[in-house]
Parts: sequence; C-alpha cells; structure tokens
Amino acid sequence: MLPTERLKEKAGRQAAKLISPGMTFGLGTGSTVKWLIEELQDRFPKNANLTVVPTSEQSARLARQAGWQVKELNEVERLELTIDGADEADPSGNLIKGGGGALLREKLVAAASDKLVIIADPTKLVEKLGKFPLPVEVIPFGYRQVQRKITEQFGVAGIQLRRKGEEPFVTDSGNFILDVEFGVIDDPAALDKALQIIPGVVETGLFVGMAHALIHTRPDGGISEKSF
Ligand code: 5RP
Repeated sequence: MLPTERLKEKAGRQAAKLISPGMTFGLGTGSTVKWLIEELQDRFPKNANLTVVPTSEQSARLARQAGWQVKELNEVERLELTIDGADEADPSGNLIKGGGGALLREKLVAAASDKLVIIADPTKLVEKLGKFPLPVEVIPFGYRQVQRKITEQFGVAGIQLRRKGEEPFVTDSGNFILDVEFGVIDDPAALDKALQIIPGVVETGLFVGMAHALIHTRPDGGISEKSF
C-alpha cells in the first residue's frame, strides 16, 4: 500500500479534472482537498477565473492564496458542484464528516450543491459507518446537557469534547464539537434524525444520501470512481 498521503494526493488531483476555467464550485476542507487545490494551481497557474464557496476559514485562506475569488454561501443561488473529503464512506455513499471540524458549513454547502463529489483514500472506505467517532456540533451553552443526553439515550462507548490544546475546539461558527463513539451505525438516517432533535445540537457529521459520487484511490494507487 502506498503511503496514505500519496493516496490522498492522487484522489485530490484526480478530482481537479472536474473543474474548468470560469467555474464556481464548493470547496471542501481537509488534507485531501489541499491536494485538489494544489492540482488546480498546477493546471491553472494564471487563476483561470475560479470562484469558490469554501466550507471553512482554512479553505478560504488557501483559496485566496491561490488567487481565486471567494464567495459566501449567501452570495450564490446554487452550486453545480462541491468537492470535499470524508472521514468514512459506506458502500451507499453515506458519510461521516467533521474530522477537521467543518461539518456544519460542509453540510450547508453540500445541501446547496447539485452534485457532491467526495474524494478519499482507501482507509476511509467502510462497510458500515461508526468506527470513526461521530462529530456532533453543539452550542457551547449547556453542552454538558447534550453530552449527558446522548450518553443516556444511546449508551455510547465514549463521548469527548473536542479540544485544541487545553481549550475546547471552537468551530468557524463559534460552536463546540462532541466526538461520539457509537460503534457500528446500522441506520445512519435514523441516528442523524434522533441527534438533530436534541436541544443544543446544531449539526451532525452524518451525511446521509448527500454524496453523488466518490473518487477514491485503491491501496495500489489506482483510481476508482463510483456514482450514487
Ligand atoms: C473536515 C472534513 C474532512 O473532509 C475530513 O475530515 C477528511 O479530511 P482529510 O482529507 O484531511 O482526511 O470532514 O471537517
């Protein structure tokens, strides 16, 4: 197996083929997406009039450095395409996202997109979601109540407030993240729904039925593409 970083690079670079000069597209977040940005800069060194709606401040910074126009989601009607990474993807294209803490904006941008293309290395592919702790974005006020409620309601194996050093990790929207160890998630749609109605939950990292395509590398470095 090639090193994971090389496999991310190949997936990210492959997805750049979906972008043509003058396009406006949703730009995901994470280390795989960084390779997409890298490839686009290689392909279009003179900017090519690209406009992006980034899913995080981190991706917005990278886009500005690349010389691209950056728009807020409120400045566009719809997006024809968003390309983003994932922490896990099941055979139906359901995802766990939010490892980088950008799940809320990622879901909003994905929901505004006609097509969501996920780029992933083979370590992200799973039969069933849930090995990766599910990120749940919560408002800071009373987050411990949410933590208690999730623990009681679902009997989870673990639930951690995400931290950056000693302090809670704060999302781009000013919220906290709980990383919840559910174990195997048999019904991602039902779990998403059950979590969403807990007061204080802003969004979950479950992306159910949102991905239209998956571009992933195989352990030998080959590329596979799948539509949903
Ligand atoms: C950020 C995400 C990322 O897409 C996910 O964490 C994958 O990241 P990477 O490409 O670095 O493995 O959901 O919130």
